[in-house]
Amino acid sequence: MNDLALYGGTPVRTKPFPHWPVFDDAEEKALVEVLRSGQWWRYSMGEAIDPKCAVEGAQSKVGEFQKQFARALGAQFGIACTTGTGAIEVVLKSMGIGPGDEVIVPPYTFVSTATAPMLIGATPVFCDIDIATLNLDPSRLEEAITPRTKAVMPVHFAGLAADMGAILEICSRRGIAVIEDACHGHGGTWNGRGLGAIGLAGAFSFQASKNMTAGEGGLIVTDDAQLAELCESHIWVGRKVGRPWYEHHYLGWNYRLTEFQGAILLEQLRRLPQQTAKRQANAFYLTEQLKRISGIRPLEVPSYATGHAFHIYVFRFDEREFGMSRAEFLQALTAEGIPASAGYAHPLYRNPLFQNPSLGRDYSRFGALCPNSERSCQEMVWLEHRVLLAERKDMDDIAEAIQKVSRAVARIPSSRP
Ligand SMILES: Cc1ncc(COP(=O)(O)O)c(C=O)c1O
Repeated sequence: MNDLALYGGTPVRTKPFPHWPVFDDAEEKALVEVLRSGQWWRYSMGEAIDPKCAVEGAQSKVGEFQKQFARALGAQFGIACTTGTGAIEVVLKSMGIGPGDEVIVPPYTFVSTATAPMLIGATPVFCDIDIATLNLDPSRLEEAITPRTKAVMPVHFAGLAADMGAILEICSRRGIAVIEDACHGHGGTWNGRGLGAIGLAGAFSFQASKNMTAGEGGLIVTDDAQLAELCESHIWVGRKVGRPWYEHHYLGWNYRLTEFQGAILLEQLRRLPQQTAKRQANAFYLTEQLKRISGIRPLEVPSYATGHAFHIYVFRFDEREFGMSRAEFLQALTAEGIPASAGYAHPLYRNPLFQNPSLGRDYSRFGALCPNSERSCQEMVWLEHRVLLAERKDMDDIAEAIQKVSRAVARIPSSRP
């Protein structure tokens, strides 16, 4: 163990990995342009549905961005909003979902997948994940469906497409809508179709960690014109295109994105294809290196996941086989200059939020129902997507650092847990 950086040895790497977000003069120019224009907010409602009926007819940055984003995915309508959480809330509310309704979600995800339904009065019902993909397991879906189920919301976790074929088959047979939480999915595809544009609607986030960002931001995509119109109205305090400004038809939020964010996101979208290609190439190369190391199990990519967005590079860490606890491994790896983390500490239903008696629901029962989510919270290791924006030789450093820790452990057999 003595040569490990954790114990004073020389680290494999001292050079930092690329910083995120990536930006240059293009973002700066776009921001200054908005600043000088004096049009800092988007007053042109209606662009999402029909550019001709935009209020004032002005071409806004947000209007242009939502159009380009939807087009890149192959979706008809894109409706921008302030956050990914808001995008999920808005789409569910626009579908008429509310108190008494249930939305099926996986528990191995960010909290908003479950709390966005709760914020509009609906109840999240957890369905376990597939141990091989970390995505909602379609073979467990039917048992989670009840007469109150109004939507199923798979997450394309880490940018890997959920098994949409099987999920859509079950949901269309049972008359249930599929809404995609595509907050990790920018640039990913399922059987060639853009993630987020497969079910009735998809929700995206542009929060700081995401593969495209304006610090914060969100967006809904759908092909359903009526749903798009309602979503836009809910984002615009219940206004209707063509009706007086101070006439409000629905109980809506003010979830509009600013023009500064729209301007940045247009530039971020321009970079996305090239960045996605780089992340994929580096991730697949890294997988080839890592799968040779005992106890390290990169995830398989099913053939339907034609384009992996690699929002996170994840691998399973087998403590017994590797010979070290995951916590020690993460410490050792970080000391070698490779930033890595354990990801979610527990499945969503174990958050204190779900233990509040005022919810009137026993969420603790999901512990027994979701063994794969429980296990994955104990076993996964995450690398941020910015790491994949480095060069191929930098991937060798990651593999070398893990090999180094593995070799050090092998020299001390007694350290095996
Ligand atoms: C899977 C998932 N869903 C929803 C969200 C919510 O997005 P936001 O942070 O923009 O509200 C996130 C963001 O972290 C996410 O990772």
